[in-house]
Amino acid sequence: MNYEERITAADLSGHEEEAVEVSLRPKRLEDYIGQRKVTGNLKVFIEAAKQRRESLDHVLFYGPPGLGKTTLAGIIAGEMGVELRITSGPAIERAGDLAAILTNLNEGDVLFIDEIHRLNRSVEEVLYSAMEDFALDIIIGKGPSARSIRLDLAKFTLIGATTRAGSLSHPLRDRFGVVCKFEMYENDELAEIVRRSAGILNVDIDEESLLEIARRSRGTPRIANRLLKRVRDFSQVKGDGFIDIDITQRTLDSLGIDRLGLEHLDREILRLIIHRFKGGPVGIDTIAAAIGEERVTIEDVYEPYLIQAGLLHRTQKGRMVSDLAYHHLGISTNEGEQLSI
Ligand code: ADE
Repeated sequence: MNYEERITAADLSGHEEEAVEVSLRPKRLEDYIGQRKVTGNLKVFIEAAKQRRESLDHVLFYGPPGLGKTTLAGIIAGEMGVELRITSGPAIERAGDLAAILTNLNEGDVLFIDEIHRLNRSVEEVLYSAMEDFALDIIIGKGPSARSIRLDLAKFTLIGATTRAGSLSHPLRDRFGVVCKFEMYENDELAEIVRRSAGILNVDIDEESLLEIARRSRGTPRIANRLLKRVRDFSQVKGDGFIDIDITQRTLDSLGIDRLGLEHLDREILRLIIHRFKGGPVGIDTIAAAIGEERVTIEDVYEPYLIQAGLLHRTQKGRMVSDLAYHHLGISTNEGEQLSI
């Protein structure tokens, strides 16, 4: 199965999904649950910039997908009382595309660039002077008669988001005044997010089910909200519309999502390392080739949660599964043999 098809894939797929997700996004900082460190600092920086009547310094968000980076960018724009413009690294193909976006921004506006590590070099270089001097240097003409003109821009705020801070070039990273790391959510935070979403979607759900969805959401609000919608479907068709623990567990089990939130491919990765590589260590490229997924997909989408859940370790020599992984899959640690349970 390709990862976009996974129920727990944290990337957006499909317009319906996107529309519902947008409707569930909090609009105010006080409604944003979790990421306390990030929101606590940003609250101060927003307040200070507002008092000085200045635009907010450029901000870099990094961490796994689905943790609320776009949501928080929207909240920042709202709190600053400015417009938000959303784009992404791969969508800005040429320097001219970026120039068109930048020249349309007003004083203080927030430009959100998702997957900023995927900007191409020529675009990135234009961004340097835009971020630092709020100006664009444009070359007109060719050869000896070419000349450069400088175009002034409104003082905007760039919010860049990336799943991998390490793949950002140093000159780009250095131009962000604020750098925020997004952490996976705790189960009680996810349960609160599901409670809030259930309220907005007008569905009845009990406490146990909130926690069960939270536990199986891989620390990711986007997944939690998606699972809530699938459980709602089941309770509507197979039950009486009320979400209790029985319908919740039946839904999640029938979606192939296990007690730790793992799906088929997560389990395949762990089984591969156990059976073919004696539990590791094994290189990430070898795993990617054997599973038939791109290395970056494994690193950005699958690995963070497997590591967070204590099922996989990253070592100097490669990836190793933990005893917990053997236990979770019901495999004996001695031989990698299947236990008969
Ligand atoms: N929906 C998605 N992420 C959220 C968060 N961090 N807080 C509240 N609702 C959310």
